[in-house]
Amino acid sequence: MKDFRAEVIKNIPPSGIRAFFELVIGMEDVISLGVGEPDFVTPWHICEAAIYSVEKGATSYTSNLGLLELREKIADYLCRKFDVSYEPKKEILITVGASEAIDLAFRAICNPGDEVIIFDPSYVAYVPIVTLAGGKPVVISMVEGDDIIFDVNKVRENITNNTKAIFINYPNNPTGKSFSRDELIQIAEVADEFDLLVVSDEIYGELTYDYNHVSFPSLPGMKERTILISGFSKAFAMTGWRIGYAAAPNYIIEAMMKIHQYSILCAPIASQIAAVEALNRGEKDMRLMRKEYHKRRNVIVDGFNKIGLPCPHPEGAFYAFPSIKRLPFTSEEFCHTLLKEENVAVVPGTAFGKSGEGFIRCAYAASMENIKAALTRIESFLKRRGLNVSG
Ligand SMILES: Cc1ncc(COP(=O)(O)O)c(C=O)c1O
Repeated sequence: MKDFRAEVIKNIPPSGIRAFFELVIGMEDVISLGVGEPDFVTPWHICEAAIYSVEKGATSYTSNLGLLELREKIADYLCRKFDVSYEPKKEILITVGASEAIDLAFRAICNPGDEVIIFDPSYVAYVPIVTLAGGKPVVISMVEGDDIIFDVNKVRENITNNTKAIFINYPNNPTGKSFSRDELIQIAEVADEFDLLVVSDEIYGELTYDYNHVSFPSLPGMKERTILISGFSKAFAMTGWRIGYAAAPNYIIEAMMKIHQYSILCAPIASQIAAVEALNRGEKDMRLMRKEYHKRRNVIVDGFNKIGLPCPHPEGAFYAFPSIKRLPFTSEEFCHTLLKEENVAVVPGTAFGKSGEGFIRCAYAASMENIKAALTRIESFLKRRGLNVSG
């Protein structure tokens, strides 16, 4: 029998994170800094709103675009928090997680061979999703030595007649780097000059610790050039509810809607109702979680720097991305050996692209106790080999 799979699928590698976590399954006493999801459960009043809605019989489809009430709350929230105004009836689409919004965005904009600039390292889904949409990912490294640096010239150098969009994500998974207003303005100038679209994944926009998040479409002239992507998974600890959204000019939302209405119909109604409650009364919970991540960020970054693994300063999200370049291991070797010897799971930087070599991603969406214990174990791992610098 022939191989029935499409060529494009054959060539897409499985997620490096998944491959690594297959190894962790079944192991005992593992401290995991591997998973990119909050260790908090969804605040109870949010769960209760969904449970109550089901009890009242809200079990139907919603509008393809999503509940109007939720779109209105999102529009209000984006305006209040980030100073960008969207028309809820025309410019916002509720999706199954930010993941679906990313998929729809590229399926809606890519003609075969259209180039999309993606910064490397990047969230594991970006290159595959752009490829599956028929686009051509053009990957630009942000790594310089042990650091993560934005250099607009690298973007300019990679623009061709086929460039359609720049895909940005800040605060970033896996590095925690955010863009300052100044850096965003540089991206905006390039977008303007070369007539490009910007797809801006701001799902960690609430989780910033050093400066306020600037939303890309809030920059002068950028709303018309941006597909803003966000969701409830990270800031409200709602990964399992699968609610995200896209905000964009009406003709792009219409294009995304065409795919969404045929493939998904609508996001689950109970989850949409939970998201309404998150925006009505959940911001206080979100601030408490953010405060906790902030404390953990400081502990983990200091910890890595002290034991001699230089850690680029993560301004947001819940990831630290220390460099292991001075050690005699590749990222994969380091992670496998650390897991085997110390029962600590962290993800090889290479799961996020080639320039992740020499780094490991450590999620601090884990308890402070576990973060401290993991640092102690990593230090023993280094000491045993005479590789520690902390004495
Ligand atoms: C940068 C980034 N975008 C999107 C997603 C997917 O989010 P969602 O759960 O809303 O699909 C993730 C999840 O880890 C992420 O890190």
